[in-house]
Amino acid sequence: MNNQEIIKKVAGMVRQKLEGEGSGHDWWHIYRVWKMAIHIGKEEKADMFVVELTALLHDIADWKFCGGDDTVGPKEARKILFKLEVSEEVIVHVCEIISTMAFKGAGVKSIVRTLEGKVVQDADRLDAIGAIGIARVFAYGGHKGRAIYDPEHKPVLHKTKEEYIKAEGSSVNHFYEKLLLLKELMNTDSAKKIAKERHKFMEEYLDRFYKEWEGKV
Ligand code: NI
Repeated sequence: MNNQEIIKKVAGMVRQKLEGEGSGHDWWHIYRVWKMAIHIGKEEKADMFVVELTALLHDIADWKFCGGDDTVGPKEARKILFKLEVSEEVIVHVCEIISTMAFKGAGVKSIVRTLEGKVVQDADRLDAIGAIGIARVFAYGGHKGRAIYDPEHKPVLHKTKEEYIKAEGSSVNHFYEKLLLLKELMNTDSAKKIAKERHKFMEEYLDRFYKEWEGKV
């Protein structure tokens, strides 16, 4: 099997596994991250085989849904790649990125070491902001039974992974606890440019949201 065939196979497997996932980490999230990672990866001249495989597998067993166990994702990814006879070097690289790239709260640093990791992390973070990001934050909030907004509960910047997982604020709070922080966390220049535009759009959105909340528009 050549690299393109392997990528196609992995895409098919991931799609089957995540189809119908209702929390914002469904197949179409993977699809968008994959396409964005290709866009950024080419601009940054990354190893595209590693980039594409990692983008496709990065949420295969999302740590937030495994009781905070962040070893499940890399293990699952290794199993799939091993079966497809991907080289050990590529498997190790992909799994290292998957285990280090997730956002775990405002005060918790997640550092990815390689260019390929930076590209996929950027693509994943870009999918959490802008028009798609807004849709996802309310979809995720609904899944968790959160209010869209509660003016009496102010946002909190979480210092640990545990605090971040337990957060119970409104979806609008989540803009301040995560979405509006992502612009500053982009690794690559290509992603920084895209993030700037998407950030501006979210600020305009919130501005309008508060006005409408108070009957001002
Ligand atoms: Ni993701």
